[in-house]
Amino acid sequence: MPQSGPGRVTVAPSLLAADFTRLREEVAAIEVAGADWLHLDIMDGHFVPNISFGPPILQSLRPHCRLPFDVHLMIEPVEPFVSAFADAGADHILVHPEAGPHLHRTLQLIRSHGKHAGVVLNPATPVDAIAWVLDLIDIILVMTVNPGFGGQAFLPSQLPKIATLRQMIDASGRAIALSVDGGISPTTAPDAIAAGADTLVAGTAVFGARDYSAAIAALRGEVPA
Ligand code: DX5
Ligand code: ZN
Repeated sequence: MPQSGPGRVTVAPSLLAADFTRLREEVAAIEVAGADWLHLDIMDGHFVPNISFGPPILQSLRPHCRLPFDVHLMIEPVEPFVSAFADAGADHILVHPEAGPHLHRTLQLIRSHGKHAGVVLNPATPVDAIAWVLDLIDIILVMTVNPGFGGQAFLPSQLPKIATLRQMIDASGRAIALSVDGGISPTTAPDAIAAGADTLVAGTAVFGARDYSAAIAALRGEVPA
């Protein structure tokens, strides 16, 4: 998995918290502000109790943003929709193990499209869920809230899970990104990073800020000049 640089934290703002009346300007602004990836939350009103947007929005935004599209699928069943998101411009496709009966095959499908494959662990999902598919994974995303909504409070109960996953990744010798999603702010990010996360997904803390560049720097722990 390509990292943003040695020891540098990858920041992936979540479009869910953007101004939906100005999505084209929002994705352009976040790229200029120094974001590494754009995180896109796809919700079906079934796997999670909320509905967001689908492939046409990715396709519409794709020409206006050079950042990798980090697509978090909260869809059940997920496998029938993987190809549509790959074709619409996703670069990373992340799925929940609970969203289909054949995680291994779903990851193979994602990779067959030439995309990076990710697995998302809900707060109650054990790390064992990924133990036998590590060879197919480029990203592990730890949910630090229950999926479905932005603006929820970070769950510190997930910190030991992040630390365990860091050990599993290091033991595997594979370049797997360890990402966290939910309630990430300049206050909670240091704990997630200390536990072993190298990638931060943040909606409210970036798109809810007046200055996107300063918000991203603050998540990285960089002190303003
Ligand atoms: C929740 C989504 C998150 C959400 C994060 O289901 O997966 O990506 O946008 O929002 P904040 O950063 O506001 O918690
Ligand atoms: Zn997400």
